[in-house]
Amino acid sequence: AIEALIFDLDGVLADTAHLHHAAWKRLAGELGLPWDDDIGERLKGVDRATSLDLVLGEAAGKYSAEQKQQFADRKNGYYREAIGTFSARDLLPGALAALTAARSAGLKIALASASRSAGELVERMGIAEFFDHVVDASTLARAKPDPEIFRRAAAALGVPPARCLGIEDAQAGVAAIKSAGMAALGIGDARVLRDADAVLPDLTSFELGKFLAPA
Ligand code: BG6
Ligand code: MG
Repeated sequence: AIEALIFDLDGVLADTAHLHHAAWKRLAGELGLPWDDDIGERLKGVDRATSLDLVLGEAAGKYSAEQKQQFADRKNGYYREAIGTFSARDLLPGALAALTAARSAGLKIALASASRSAGELVERMGIAEFFDHVVDASTLARAKPDPEIFRRAAAALGVPPARCLGIEDAQAGVAAIKSAGMAALGIGDARVLRDADAVLPDLTSFELGKFLAPA
């Protein structure tokens, strides 16, 4: 049976996926790089440095490590500006109800976000107290789709991966959950999140009871 829920943040609980996307698109425009909105799905869930490499594409080799750091910082500045006014209003529909239901059911709850702004965002949105553990993204060696972040969350909660349900809107995130040995609930488009065990369009249709029964 499921004993813990491990949530991604951006695009699952917080309405931020489009803001990351817009910040990368703005940087790409400034650098005169080609932009195809299809890149959006691949950028989801991926850490900042890996995202920059995806955005630079073939141009990546043209820039020094120092220039790349500046580009990543610039994108982060645009993103930070966009979330500057975030509050509980920016929670995605169903997020608060899902967290409340999990807590009432006595489940452990962790946050597994690749974003270095995750801790601040959950504070601003008023949901920090729901989490028994928030993984510090700055301490990770490997980005999603590597399972490290989900394994770390489960270990911190003291729950075996087989009894955790990971919740993700990104292909890279679903892959990370599955390789951590957990059940994956995808949030978004079932055609995109093919490897998830179940997919919902958003958290408004989340029914905790459906996931608690022993497999
Ligand atoms: C993930 C987002 O949660 O965090 C990605 O889905 C983002 O789009 C990544 O690149 C890293 O975020 P940050 O805020 O540390 O640059
Ligand atoms: Mg996400």
